[in-house]
Amino acid sequence: MDQKAMNEYLDQWLRDAHAMEEQATTMLTTQASRIEHYPELKQKMEQHIRETESQRDRLEACLTRRGTSPSGAKDIAAKFTAMGQGLSGTVMGDEVVKGAMASYTFEHFEISAYRELIGAADIVGDHETKRVCEEILKEEQAMADWLYEQLPVVSRTFLERAGSDAAEAKR
Ligand SMILES: [Fe+2]
Repeated sequence: MDQKAMNEYLDQWLRDAHAMEEQATTMLTTQASRIEHYPELKQKMEQHIRETESQRDRLEACLTRRGTSPSGAKDIAAKFTAMGQGLSGTVMGDEVVKGAMASYTFEHFEISAYRELIGAADIVGDHETKRVCEEILKEEQAMADWLYEQLPVVSRTFLERAGSDAAEAKR
């Protein structure tokens, strides 16, 4: 593939990542608003929302520097609707358990996107984009690691609270 075509792919994948972070912000915000009984999880989610907004901005800066721009809002909605529903569409009593599972999965979706972007930025010689993606990757990995430890805590806390959470969900 020639350099021009490679760069076009890299631009497209950066736009996809930008859309992914936009979607992550929406999902995290929805989840964080529903987990008042899980203060530690809520606090971490809120911290990751701020981190995610910064990731989106850093990607936007990469796109601008490369002479292009993020996708429109319509593209984003079309691409991520299905995954978004998995995270924010449920109103079942155990949504915090499903939500934590979905968040862990989503972090790995993000990790795979940045791992691929690193390879693509490397081959076209865009060192700044590579550096940014490596930096964001570390943040996603840290969030995934934290969630990994937290998953059994979430299910245990849910079961201990079971009656009251289920009752609240039905209100
Ligand atoms: Fe992210």
